Amino acid sequence: MEYKYTKNENYEDFASGRVLYHVGGEPTFPVRLSLEIYERCLHYSNKKTDISLYDCCCGGGYLLTILGLLKSNSISSLYGSDINSESLKLADDNLGLLTKAGISRRRDELEALYQKYKKVSHTEALHSIDIIEQRLTRDIKTSVFKRNVFEVCDLPFIPDIIITDVPYGNMVEWDEGSGGINQMMNALSSACGNETIICVCMDKKQKIQTEIYQRLERQLVGKRKFEIYKKKVFGTLSCAKEYVQQSRLEDWVQLFLRGDGKNIELANGLKDNNFKYVSLVMINLNDMDVTEEVPEYITENSDKEWFYYEINEMINKIENGWDMPPLIVHFQKGIYHPLDGRHRNIALRKLDITQAPAVIVLNTKEDYQNYMLGYKMEEANDWNMP
Ligand SMILES: C[S@@+](CC[C@H](N)C(=O)[O-])C[C@H]1O[C@@H](n2cnc3c(N)ncnc32)[C@H](O)[C@@H]1O
Repeated sequence: MEYKYTKNENYEDFASGRVLYHVGGEPTFPVRLSLEIYERCLHYSNKKTDISLYDCCCGGGYLLTILGLLKSNSISSLYGSDINSESLKLADDNLGLLTKAGISRRRDELEALYQKYKKVSHTEALHSIDIIEQRLTRDIKTSVFKRNVFEVCDLPFIPDIIITDVPYGNMVEWDEGSGGINQMMNALSSACGNETIICVCMDKKQKIQTEIYQRLERQLVGKRKFEIYKKKVFGTLSCAKEYVQQSRLEDWVQLFLRGDGKNIELANGLKDNNFKYVSLVMINLNDMDVTEEVPEYITENSDKEWFYYEINEMINKIENGWDMPPLIVHFQKGIYHPLDGRHRNIALRKLDITQAPAVIVLNTKEDYQNYMLGYKMEEANDWNMP
Protein backbone atom coordinates (compact mmCIF):
# COMPACT_ATOMS: atom_id res chain seq x y z
CA MET A 1 0.00 0.00 0.00
CA GLU A 2 1.18 3.47 -0.79
CA TYR A 3 0.91 5.87 2.15
CA LYS A 4 -1.12 8.86 0.98
CA TYR A 5 -1.31 10.97 4.11
CA THR A 6 1.48 9.93 6.47
CA LYS A 7 5.21 10.44 6.09
CA ASN A 8 7.73 7.81 7.07
CA GLU A 9 8.91 9.58 10.22
CA ASN A 10 10.51 8.39 13.38
CA TYR A 11 7.70 7.60 15.83
CA GLU A 12 9.89 6.10 18.55
CA ASP A 13 8.63 8.59 21.17
CA PHE A 14 5.26 6.84 20.87
CA ALA A 15 6.58 3.28 21.04
CA SER A 16 4.63 0.95 23.26
CA GLY A 17 6.36 0.40 26.63
CA ARG A 18 8.42 3.59 26.37
CA VAL A 19 6.03 6.24 27.68
CA LEU A 20 2.85 4.47 26.64
CA TYR A 21 2.16 1.53 28.92
CA HIS A 22 2.69 -2.01 27.71
CA VAL A 23 1.92 -5.37 29.25
CA GLY A 24 3.45 -8.54 27.79
CA GLY A 25 1.07 -10.38 25.48
CA GLU A 26 -0.96 -7.26 24.57
CA PRO A 27 -0.77 -6.56 20.85
CA THR A 28 -0.01 -3.06 19.61
CA PHE A 29 -0.42 -1.42 16.23
CA PRO A 30 2.08 0.35 13.94
CA VAL A 31 1.94 4.11 14.52
CA ARG A 32 2.29 5.18 10.90
CA LEU A 33 -0.41 2.75 9.81
CA SER A 34 -2.78 4.01 12.56
CA LEU A 35 -2.33 7.58 11.34
CA GLU A 36 -2.78 6.64 7.69
CA ILE A 37 -5.96 4.66 8.41
CA TYR A 38 -7.39 7.50 10.48
CA GLU A 39 -6.73 10.02 7.68
CA ARG A 40 -8.32 7.71 5.12
CA CYS A 41 -11.42 7.36 7.32
CA LEU A 42 -11.53 11.12 7.83
CA HIS A 43 -11.39 11.55 4.07
CA TYR A 44 -14.62 9.48 3.74
CA SER A 45 -16.29 11.14 6.73
CA ASN A 46 -18.60 14.08 6.08
CA LYS A 47 -17.56 15.42 9.47
CA LYS A 48 -13.98 16.66 9.64
CA THR A 49 -13.66 18.10 13.14
CA ASP A 50 -14.81 17.15 16.66
CA ILE A 51 -14.57 13.51 15.68
CA SER A 52 -15.69 10.84 18.11
CA LEU A 53 -13.57 7.77 17.51
CA TYR A 54 -14.45 4.29 18.78
CA ASP A 55 -12.39 1.09 18.91
CA CYS A 56 -14.62 -1.89 19.79
CA CYS A 57 -11.69 -4.32 20.32
CA CYS A 58 -9.44 -1.72 21.93
CA GLY A 59 -7.15 -4.06 23.89
CA GLY A 60 -4.66 -1.90 25.79
CA GLY A 61 -5.89 1.21 23.99
CA TYR A 62 -2.61 1.73 22.13
CA LEU A 63 -4.18 2.67 18.79
CA LEU A 64 -6.65 5.06 20.44
CA THR A 65 -3.95 6.74 22.53
CA ILE A 66 -1.66 7.23 19.53
CA LEU A 67 -4.47 8.84 17.58
CA GLY A 68 -5.46 10.98 20.57
CA LEU A 69 -1.87 12.25 20.81
CA LEU A 70 -1.17 12.74 17.13
CA LYS A 71 -4.59 13.72 15.75
CA SER A 72 -5.91 15.92 18.53
CA ASN A 73 -6.61 18.69 15.98
CA SER A 74 -9.64 16.77 14.74
CA ILE A 75 -10.53 14.28 17.52
CA SER A 76 -12.65 15.37 20.48
CA SER A 77 -13.63 12.03 22.06
CA LEU A 78 -12.20 8.54 22.22
CA TYR A 79 -14.17 5.45 23.21
CA GLY A 80 -12.74 1.98 23.66
CA SER A 81 -14.36 -1.31 24.57
CA ASP A 82 -13.05 -4.84 24.89
CA ILE A 83 -14.16 -8.13 26.40
CA ASN A 84 -11.02 -8.44 28.51
CA SER A 85 -11.02 -6.53 31.82
CA GLU A 86 -7.22 -6.63 32.15
CA SER A 87 -6.83 -5.03 28.74
CA LEU A 88 -9.35 -2.36 29.68
CA LYS A 89 -7.31 -1.46 32.75
CA LEU A 90 -4.28 -0.95 30.48
CA ALA A 91 -6.40 1.06 28.04
CA ASP A 92 -7.53 3.29 30.88
CA ASP A 93 -3.91 3.93 31.91
CA ASN A 94 -2.86 4.66 28.33
CA LEU A 95 -5.76 7.01 27.65
CA GLY A 96 -4.92 8.72 30.97
CA LEU A 97 -1.71 9.88 29.24
CA LEU A 98 -3.86 12.31 27.26
CA THR A 99 -4.22 14.39 30.42
CA LYS A 100 -1.66 16.53 32.28
CA ALA A 101 -2.36 14.52 35.47
CA GLY A 102 -1.73 11.20 33.69
CA ILE A 103 1.50 12.49 32.14
CA SER A 104 2.76 13.81 35.46
CA ARG A 105 2.02 10.45 37.12
CA ARG A 106 3.90 8.65 34.33
CA ARG A 107 6.84 11.07 34.63
CA ASP A 108 7.08 10.27 38.37
CA GLU A 109 7.08 6.55 37.56
CA LEU A 110 9.78 6.92 34.91
CA GLU A 111 11.94 9.13 37.17
CA ALA A 112 11.67 6.58 39.97
CA LEU A 113 12.71 3.84 37.54
CA TYR A 114 15.64 5.94 36.35
CA GLN A 115 16.79 6.59 39.94
CA LYS A 116 16.62 2.90 40.69
CA TYR A 117 18.11 1.34 37.54
CA LYS A 118 19.83 4.21 35.66
CA LYS A 119 18.94 2.58 32.32
CA VAL A 120 19.36 4.40 28.99
CA SER A 121 15.83 3.38 28.09
CA HIS A 122 14.50 5.40 31.05
CA THR A 123 16.44 8.52 30.00
CA GLU A 124 15.02 8.11 26.50
CA ALA A 125 11.52 7.69 27.90
CA LEU A 126 11.93 10.89 29.97
CA HIS A 127 12.94 12.72 26.79
CA SER A 128 9.93 11.28 24.93
CA ILE A 129 7.52 12.25 27.68
CA ASP A 130 8.49 15.92 27.20
CA ILE A 131 7.66 15.62 23.52
CA ILE A 132 4.37 13.88 24.29
CA GLU A 133 3.43 16.49 26.89
CA GLN A 134 3.88 19.26 24.31
CA ARG A 135 1.18 17.58 22.25
CA LEU A 136 -1.43 17.88 25.00
CA THR A 137 -2.95 21.07 23.67
CA ARG A 138 -6.59 20.04 23.82
CA ASP A 139 -8.85 18.15 26.23
CA ILE A 140 -10.08 14.92 24.71
CA LYS A 141 -12.95 13.09 26.35
CA THR A 142 -12.12 9.41 26.91
CA SER A 143 -14.15 6.44 28.04
CA VAL A 144 -13.50 2.70 28.19
CA PHE A 145 -16.08 0.05 28.92
CA LYS A 146 -16.57 -3.70 28.75
CA ARG A 147 -18.47 -5.03 25.78
CA ASN A 148 -18.64 -8.26 23.85
CA VAL A 149 -18.52 -7.12 20.27
CA PHE A 150 -20.77 -10.00 19.17
CA GLU A 151 -23.70 -8.66 21.17
CA VAL A 152 -26.00 -6.00 19.77
CA CYS A 153 -26.08 -2.99 22.05
CA ASP A 154 -27.10 0.62 21.81
CA LEU A 155 -24.28 2.92 22.82
CA PRO A 156 -24.80 6.31 24.45
CA PHE A 157 -22.86 7.96 21.60
CA ILE A 158 -22.75 7.72 17.82
CA PRO A 159 -19.18 7.30 16.63
CA ASP A 160 -18.09 9.32 13.61
CA ILE A 161 -15.30 6.84 12.96
CA ILE A 162 -14.71 3.30 14.19
CA ILE A 163 -11.24 1.85 13.78
CA THR A 164 -10.63 -1.58 15.17
CA ASP A 165 -7.92 -4.16 14.98
CA VAL A 166 -9.62 -7.51 15.53
CA PRO A 167 -8.02 -10.68 16.94
CA TYR A 168 -6.11 -12.80 14.48
CA GLY A 169 -4.90 -15.70 16.39
CA ASN A 170 -1.18 -15.20 16.84
CA MET A 171 -1.50 -13.14 20.05
CA VAL A 172 -5.23 -12.87 20.76
CA GLU A 173 -8.17 -15.02 19.77
CA TRP A 174 -11.82 -14.15 19.41
CA ASP A 175 -13.47 -14.57 22.79
CA GLU A 176 -17.06 -15.36 23.84
CA GLY A 177 -18.57 -16.18 20.50
CA SER A 178 -17.86 -18.05 17.37
CA GLY A 179 -19.49 -15.81 14.80
CA GLY A 180 -16.22 -14.04 14.05
CA ILE A 181 -15.92 -10.94 12.02
CA ASN A 182 -19.33 -11.08 10.31
CA GLN A 183 -21.17 -11.40 13.61
CA MET A 184 -19.18 -8.40 14.84
CA MET A 185 -20.15 -6.37 11.76
CA ASN A 186 -23.84 -7.24 12.17
CA ALA A 187 -23.84 -6.37 15.87
CA LEU A 188 -21.94 -3.14 15.22
CA SER A 189 -24.63 -1.87 12.90
CA SER A 190 -26.90 -0.68 15.70
CA ALA A 191 -24.02 1.31 17.19
CA CYS A 192 -23.35 3.15 13.92
CA GLY A 193 -25.09 6.15 12.48
CA ASN A 194 -25.71 6.34 8.75
CA GLU A 195 -22.61 8.52 8.41
CA THR A 196 -20.25 6.45 10.57
CA ILE A 197 -17.09 5.29 8.80
CA ILE A 198 -15.81 1.90 9.93
CA CYS A 199 -12.33 0.51 9.38
CA VAL A 200 -11.57 -3.08 10.32
CA CYS A 201 -7.97 -4.34 10.41
CA MET A 202 -7.63 -8.09 10.22
CA ASP A 203 -5.46 -10.85 8.85
CA LYS A 204 -5.87 -11.91 5.25
CA LYS A 205 -7.84 -15.04 6.14
CA GLN A 206 -10.82 -13.20 7.65
CA LYS A 207 -13.47 -12.18 5.15
CA ILE A 208 -16.21 -9.66 5.71
CA GLN A 209 -19.31 -10.77 3.86
CA THR A 210 -22.15 -8.41 4.54
CA GLU A 211 -24.94 -6.73 2.67
CA ILE A 212 -25.47 -4.13 5.41
CA TYR A 213 -22.35 -2.16 4.56
CA GLN A 214 -20.84 -0.70 1.47
CA ARG A 215 -17.10 -1.25 1.15
CA LEU A 216 -15.23 1.96 0.38
CA GLU A 217 -11.68 0.69 0.36
CA ARG A 218 -9.54 -2.40 0.87
CA GLN A 219 -5.77 -2.41 1.37
CA LEU A 220 -3.19 -5.10 1.99
CA VAL A 221 -0.33 -4.16 4.33
CA GLY A 222 2.18 -6.95 4.96
CA LYS A 223 0.38 -9.74 6.82
CA ARG A 224 -2.57 -7.48 7.58
CA LYS A 225 -5.36 -6.00 5.55
CA PHE A 226 -7.78 -3.23 6.37
CA GLU A 227 -11.18 -2.51 4.89
CA ILE A 228 -13.20 0.66 5.20
CA TYR A 229 -17.00 0.56 5.25
CA LYS A 230 -20.08 2.71 5.59
CA LYS A 231 -23.61 1.51 6.28
CA LYS A 232 -25.74 1.11 3.17
CA VAL A 233 -28.99 3.01 3.09
CA PHE A 234 -31.88 0.56 2.64
CA GLY A 235 -34.62 2.90 3.80
CA THR A 236 -35.97 4.04 0.45
CA LEU A 237 -38.90 2.90 -1.65
CA SER A 238 -36.59 2.51 -4.65
CA CYS A 239 -34.37 0.12 -2.71
CA ALA A 240 -37.41 -1.89 -1.53
CA LYS A 241 -38.61 -2.10 -5.15
CA GLU A 242 -35.22 -3.41 -6.30
CA TYR A 243 -35.44 -6.23 -3.76
CA VAL A 244 -39.03 -6.98 -4.83
CA GLN A 245 -37.82 -7.33 -8.41
CA GLN A 246 -35.31 -9.92 -7.24
CA SER A 247 -38.09 -11.66 -5.21
CA ARG A 248 -36.21 -10.73 -2.02
CA LEU A 249 -38.76 -8.67 -0.12
CA GLU A 250 -38.03 -10.47 3.15
CA ASP A 251 -34.31 -9.71 2.75
CA TRP A 252 -35.10 -6.04 2.23
CA VAL A 253 -37.24 -5.91 5.39
CA GLN A 254 -34.52 -7.60 7.44
CA LEU A 255 -31.70 -5.46 6.03
CA PHE A 256 -33.68 -2.25 6.47
CA LEU A 257 -34.76 -3.02 10.05
CA ARG A 258 -31.29 -4.20 11.08
CA GLY A 259 -29.63 -1.30 9.30
CA ASP A 260 -30.82 2.29 8.93
CA GLY A 261 -34.35 1.34 10.06
CA LYS A 262 -32.84 0.67 13.52
CA ASN A 263 -35.54 -1.76 14.61
CA ILE A 264 -33.64 -4.96 15.34
CA GLU A 265 -36.31 -6.05 17.83
CA LEU A 266 -38.92 -6.12 15.07
CA ALA A 267 -36.51 -7.84 12.66
CA ASN A 268 -35.98 -10.60 15.25
CA GLY A 269 -39.71 -10.77 16.06
CA LEU A 270 -40.61 -11.25 12.40
CA LYS A 271 -38.05 -14.04 12.08
CA ASP A 272 -38.91 -15.78 15.35
CA ASN A 273 -42.65 -15.79 14.64
CA ASN A 274 -42.24 -17.10 11.15
CA PHE A 275 -43.85 -14.15 9.43
CA LYS A 276 -44.54 -14.27 5.71
CA TYR A 277 -44.01 -11.25 3.53
CA VAL A 278 -46.93 -10.94 1.20
CA SER A 279 -46.27 -7.96 -0.98
CA LEU A 280 -45.34 -4.35 -1.38
CA VAL A 281 -48.64 -2.55 -2.00
CA MET A 282 -50.32 0.84 -1.67
CA ILE A 283 -52.30 0.85 1.54
CA ASN A 284 -55.10 3.14 2.60
CA LEU A 285 -53.89 4.81 5.79
CA ASN A 286 -57.42 5.01 7.18
CA ASP A 287 -57.55 1.20 7.20
CA MET A 288 -54.90 1.07 9.92
CA ASP A 289 -55.74 0.78 13.59
CA VAL A 290 -53.72 3.69 14.97
CA THR A 291 -55.89 5.49 17.51
CA GLU A 292 -53.49 7.68 19.47
CA GLU A 293 -50.58 9.58 17.94
CA VAL A 294 -48.01 9.36 20.72
CA PRO A 295 -47.45 5.75 21.78
CA GLU A 296 -48.36 5.10 25.43
CA TYR A 297 -44.80 4.16 26.42
CA ILE A 298 -43.78 7.79 25.74
CA THR A 299 -44.76 9.59 28.94
CA GLU A 300 -42.17 12.35 29.49
CA ASN A 301 -42.99 15.74 27.97
CA SER A 302 -39.49 16.13 26.55
CA ASP A 303 -39.84 12.73 24.81
CA LYS A 304 -43.22 13.80 23.39
CA GLU A 305 -41.65 16.99 22.07
CA TRP A 306 -38.89 14.94 20.44
CA PHE A 307 -41.52 12.64 18.92
CA TYR A 308 -43.23 15.60 17.25
CA TYR A 309 -39.91 17.15 16.27
CA GLU A 310 -39.09 13.97 14.33
CA ILE A 311 -42.52 14.02 12.71
CA ASN A 312 -42.01 17.62 11.58
CA GLU A 313 -38.64 16.65 10.12
CA MET A 314 -40.41 13.90 8.17
CA ILE A 315 -43.09 16.29 6.96
CA ASN A 316 -40.32 18.48 5.51
CA LYS A 317 -38.70 15.49 3.87
CA ILE A 318 -41.99 14.29 2.36
CA GLU A 319 -42.68 17.78 1.01
CA ASN A 320 -39.24 17.73 -0.57
CA GLY A 321 -39.84 14.49 -2.44
CA TRP A 322 -38.45 11.96 0.07
CA ASP A 323 -37.96 8.47 -1.36
CA MET A 324 -39.70 7.25 1.80
CA PRO A 325 -39.31 3.61 2.90
CA PRO A 326 -42.56 1.64 2.89
CA LEU A 327 -44.42 1.12 6.16
CA ILE A 328 -44.34 -2.41 7.55
CA VAL A 329 -47.85 -3.53 8.40
CA HIS A 330 -49.18 -6.70 10.04
CA PHE A 331 -52.48 -7.92 8.55
CA GLN A 332 -54.28 -9.81 11.32
CA LYS A 333 -57.96 -10.83 11.47
CA GLY A 334 -58.85 -8.32 8.82
CA ILE A 335 -57.09 -5.40 10.53
CA TYR A 336 -53.86 -3.63 9.57
CA HIS A 337 -51.52 -3.05 12.52
CA PRO A 338 -48.52 -0.80 11.79
CA LEU A 339 -45.27 -2.43 12.94
CA ASP A 340 -42.72 0.00 11.59
CA GLY A 341 -43.33 3.56 10.42
CA ARG A 342 -45.44 5.18 13.13
CA HIS A 343 -43.77 8.57 12.52
CA ARG A 344 -44.15 8.23 8.75
CA ASN A 345 -47.78 7.30 9.16
CA ILE A 346 -48.56 10.38 11.28
CA ALA A 347 -46.52 12.70 9.05
CA LEU A 348 -48.45 11.49 5.98
CA ARG A 349 -51.81 11.99 7.73
CA LYS A 350 -50.85 15.50 8.79
CA LEU A 351 -50.21 16.24 5.11
CA ASP A 352 -53.67 14.78 4.25
CA ILE A 353 -52.02 12.00 2.26
CA THR A 354 -54.30 8.97 2.43
CA GLN A 355 -52.26 6.27 0.73
CA ALA A 356 -48.71 5.02 1.23
CA PRO A 357 -46.56 2.09 0.16
CA ALA A 358 -46.45 -0.71 2.72
CA VAL A 359 -45.00 -4.17 3.08
CA ILE A 360 -47.75 -6.49 4.32
CA VAL A 361 -46.69 -9.28 6.65
CA LEU A 362 -48.77 -11.98 8.29
CA ASN A 363 -48.26 -15.28 10.04
CA THR A 364 -51.35 -17.47 9.86
CA LYS A 365 -52.97 -19.31 7.00
CA GLU A 366 -56.36 -17.75 7.84
CA ASP A 367 -54.95 -14.24 7.64
CA TYR A 368 -53.30 -15.11 4.38
CA GLN A 369 -56.52 -16.45 2.90
CA ASN A 370 -58.49 -13.44 4.11
CA TYR A 371 -55.91 -11.07 2.74
CA MET A 372 -55.84 -12.80 -0.61
CA LEU A 373 -59.62 -13.04 -0.81
CA GLY A 374 -59.92 -9.33 -0.26
CA TYR A 375 -57.04 -8.17 -2.36
CA LYS A 376 -55.03 -10.49 -4.52
CA MET A 377 -56.73 -13.76 -5.24
CA GLU A 378 -54.42 -14.57 -8.13
CA GLU A 379 -51.33 -14.88 -5.89
CA ALA A 380 -52.95 -17.30 -3.43
CA ASN A 381 -51.58 -20.39 -5.11
CA ASP A 382 -47.98 -19.27 -4.63
CA TRP A 383 -48.29 -19.39 -0.86
CA ASN A 384 -47.31 -22.43 1.15
CA MET A 385 -48.10 -21.96 4.79
CA PRO A 386 -46.70 -24.73 7.01
C1 LIG B 1 -5.55 -7.20 18.19
S1 LIG B 1 -6.17 -6.82 19.77
C2 LIG B 1 -6.44 -5.11 19.73
C3 LIG B 1 -5.26 -4.27 20.09
C4 LIG B 1 -5.55 -2.79 20.11
N1 LIG B 1 -5.83 -2.33 18.77
C5 LIG B 1 -4.48 -1.92 20.71
O1 LIG B 1 -4.07 -0.96 20.05
O2 LIG B 1 -4.06 -2.13 21.86
C6 LIG B 1 -7.78 -7.50 19.71
C7 LIG B 1 -8.59 -7.34 20.97
O3 LIG B 1 -9.87 -7.95 20.73
C8 LIG B 1 -10.37 -8.37 21.99
N2 LIG B 1 -11.51 -9.30 21.82
C9 LIG B 1 -11.50 -10.63 21.52
N3 LIG B 1 -12.77 -11.11 21.45
C10 LIG B 1 -13.59 -10.06 21.71
C11 LIG B 1 -15.00 -9.92 21.81
N4 LIG B 1 -15.81 -10.97 21.60
N5 LIG B 1 -15.51 -8.71 22.11
C12 LIG B 1 -14.68 -7.64 22.33
N6 LIG B 1 -13.33 -7.71 22.25
C13 LIG B 1 -12.79 -8.90 21.95
C14 LIG B 1 -9.16 -8.98 22.68
O4 LIG B 1 -9.36 -9.00 24.09
C15 LIG B 1 -8.06 -8.02 22.22
O5 LIG B 1 -7.80 -7.05 23.20
